[in-house]
Amino acid sequence: MSHWRRFSRSGRQLRRQSAERVETAVRLGPIELPGPIVAASGTFGHGDEVARVTDAARLGAVTTKSLAPYAWPGNPPPRLYPTAAGMLNSVGLQGPGVEHWVEHELPGLRSRGARVIASVWGRTVDDYTVGTKMLEPARDDLVAVEVNISCPNLEDRARMFAQSAEATTAVVRTVVEHARGLPVLVKLSPNVTDIREIAGAAVDAGATGLTLVNTVLGLSIDAERRRPVLGAGGGGLCRGRQWSRSTPSTARTGGGRWPSCSTAGANSSSITSCSRRRTTRVARIAPSGRTASTRTSSTCRPAT
Ligand SMILES: Cc1cc2nc3c(=O)[nH]c(=O)nc-3n(C[C@H](O)[C@H](O)[C@H](O)COP(=O)(O)O)c2cc1C
Repeated sequence: MSHWRRFSRSGRQLRRQSAERVETAVRLGPIELPGPIVAASGTFGHGDEVARVTDAARLGAVTTKSLAPYAWPGNPPPRLYPTAAGMLNSVGLQGPGVEHWVEHELPGLRSRGARVIASVWGRTVDDYTVGTKMLEPARDDLVAVEVNISCPNLEDRARMFAQSAEATTAVVRTVVEHARGLPVLVKLSPNVTDIREIAGAAVDAGATGLTLVNTVLGLSIDAERRRPVLGAGGGGLCRGRQWSRSTPSTARTGGGRWPSCSTAGANSSSITSCSRRRTTRVARIAPSGRTASTRTSSTCRPAT
């Protein structure tokens, strides 16, 4: 055997051995996950549609697309539009409702070995209460509840819950109360003046941790038709550059006091990474489900 072949084989063996020794488990407050990579809400469907073509069990967890306590039709098409700055989307939270999901979608995900974080949304505080109560039969199958507060609050002139500390407090209190011990992660919006105020309100109301952050509001106009390109008008801009928003938001939310997950997007999918130490490993999940790239950051906050 040539010197070079012997050398490259021992290199491969070494890499395999050291890969086996890497400890990837993370702890996010009381949540323990075998790895730091979590599929972000809205990028993995509601059930096992993506899990069928990936190995969901190899992810730390999968966050479902946000669910209301009722079926919701979502926004008119077009719902996605690629721009030079990233992917603009306005799916409008289409979904089958929590009860249907618990009965028909969750079992498929669980049977594939996925650890599941259920994301809930609503248009009133009561919607969050009802949606969380509907998760009760599934509580043994869930790792945590994520609260998507980037939705219009009908009781406050359709202002986003995430843009008001009072509304955030009301929503988080009721979810924490009705989640009855399940960890609660609150997903904040970057579309605020001072994210620390909202983060503080969420934590004071009993949140276990934070997910940072949802998409930035965006609008693209078709100049010839003089109309927005998306059916609903504006949408959320999902930016391919991973560190552009979630890392500053993570840093701004206050000195590493709280367990936090950073969402980082790609044009085709987004991921959430949970921080364990000062260094967080982040990978982009390719459409095939393989890890396409990894990066490191030293700015994410440590979990406690
Ligand atoms: C098509 C699509 C659907 C999404 N649906 C949801 C959703 O239902 N609930 C939610 O909390 N976030 C949703 N998100 C936001 C992502 O979970 C993630 O927070 C966001 O993409 C991160 O922003 P970035 O891609 O710019 O890093 C969605 C994103 C996309 C691209």
